[in-house]
Amino acid sequence: MDFTTTFQISQMIVNELAGSAFVHKMQGQLFKSQGYTKLGQKYLDHYTEEMGWVEKYTDRLLDLGQVPEVNVCNQTTLIEDPKAYLEADLKLQKEGVETLYKAMPALASDPTTYDITKAYLLDEEEDLYWDEEQLALIEKIGYQNWLVKQL
Ligand SMILES: [Fe+2]
Ligand SMILES: [Fe+2]
Repeated sequence: MDFTTTFQISQMIVNELAGSAFVHKMQGQLFKSQGYTKLGQKYLDHYTEEMGWVEKYTDRLLDLGQVPEVNVCNQTTLIEDPKAYLEADLKLQKEGVETLYKAMPALASDPTTYDITKAYLLDEEEDLYWDEEQLALIEKIGYQNWLVKQL
């Protein structure tokens, strides 16, 4: 069997996800330092959850005899305003979900990685809906009220 596509997609997910998960962790620490304990904890937990997926794809590569590369250094600036961060994250989230949708057909010949990616895609879609929900909530109840809920 030829696992070239699996290697490429798994490595791409490991790179992108490890980088973006780390940003969530740093944002979580930033929000906590501003007093938004709940929001901060949400992103710290999110980091742990996403690193779980990095671990799954790493294991998949190792199971297939492929030693993954480490390439997760992406430079970015942390965003201090929670709403501005939600908006920026929603944009990235949409791009990520689109990439995963495109990856699915390419994984059709590897049902194991297909299933892992399907479950991961579901998770990422939920993240996207969460971002959308929060922004809708901010519109409805007002930004100040939403921020109070994040204390
Ligand atoms: Fe995320
Ligand atoms: Fe996620």
